[in-house]
Amino acid sequence: MLRTLAIETSCDETAVAVLDGDGRLEANELSSQVAAHAPFGGVVPELASREHLKALPVLLERALGAARGEIELVAVTAGPGLVGALLVGVRFACAYAWARGLPLVAVDHLHGHLVSPFLDLDGSAARRTPGRVLALVASGGHSSWYLLTDGVARRLGRTRDDAAGESFDKVAQALGLPYPGGPVVDRLARRGDAGAVSLPRPRIEGAPADFSFSGLKSAAIRFIRDTGLKGVGIDDPLPEVLDLLASFELAVVDQLLGPAAALVAEHRPQLITAAGGVAANTLLRRRVENLGESMGVEVLLPPLALTTDNAAMIGRAGQLAHSRGAVVDARRLDAHARRAWQPPGMRKVGAGDGVR
Ligand code: KG4
Ligand code: ZN
Repeated sequence: MLRTLAIETSCDETAVAVLDGDGRLEANELSSQVAAHAPFGGVVPELASREHLKALPVLLERALGAARGEIELVAVTAGPGLVGALLVGVRFACAYAWARGLPLVAVDHLHGHLVSPFLDLDGSAARRTPGRVLALVASGGHSSWYLLTDGVARRLGRTRDDAAGESFDKVAQALGLPYPGGPVVDRLARRGDAGAVSLPRPRIEGAPADFSFSGLKSAAIRFIRDTGLKGVGIDDPLPEVLDLLASFELAVVDQLLGPAAALVAEHRPQLITAAGGVAANTLLRRRVENLGESMGVEVLLPPLALTTDNAAMIGRAGQLAHSRGAVVDARRLDAHARRAWQPPGMRKVGAGDGVR
């Protein structure tokens, strides 16, 4: 495959990476916008676009400085995400590819997360994907189980309402904890009693592989309101806050992994993976490892730094797509906010027909 320059600007991380033809990371540059959005308690789309514009040239220069050879292919996230944020990366990548006469591939952000477990930070080549992989993607915008069969993804189950990361962010916000909530909840939950607060774990009738977080999130927020726990701060949290966060984290992980054993039994995968920001969660990682052990299936988790949004995963997804013939016209590529968007030359991630 070709040495690839990859660009990711779908949400609040600006990221640029360079991968050699075997998927070794030569550069993995990232600029987080957390500080810019923190005062607002969430991502402000307009601000995200402006921050991407500022950061991209700086990251590009650094990434190209670390590249060990000429760039031969450009890959960019073209959807789904915040359309203004996506547009910045898309136009940037189009201009780069067009000016140098390089081939360009448009990548579905979810496809990036799906390939992230196969990458390493230690200079090794990307691993090959076995024939059948059961894959969880849990992030701030998505929570779904997929079956990857020879690189084609079919969605098996999904959240019916909030994403797992979103529910962590909202409960943290209700407590007055900083954004994004997931990493903070992870840290504080380690010190709490996960059996202290009982929270609902509703299942969807007739759809055993689907799950829901909104009832669980509302119960936690109601508990915060009723017990007056709001505004506790992060430095010296009350034991009740630690207990609530540990209980909430356990319930979210139970919801995500609820369908897992049945899916393993039904689809007999050779490998189980988990990706997306929530795959950085300590308890989730342990529970996925345990699931693999108890069912005799190998587990592969991305390095922590590649769980949240990054350009390395977009580069690898782009290389795989390009090797199957996907390429787009740099003068015509647009950004696509919608989840159902289908990258040119690829089939979509999701209901039924999968991605290549
Ligand atoms: O994959 P990602 O960077 O962006 C999306 O594509 O959405 O995921 C971000 C999400 C946020 O909701 C964040 O709170 C959550 O991942 N997250 C975590 C952890 N680290 C990030 N959730 C639980 N535990 C963590 N350690
Ligand atoms: Zn993501």
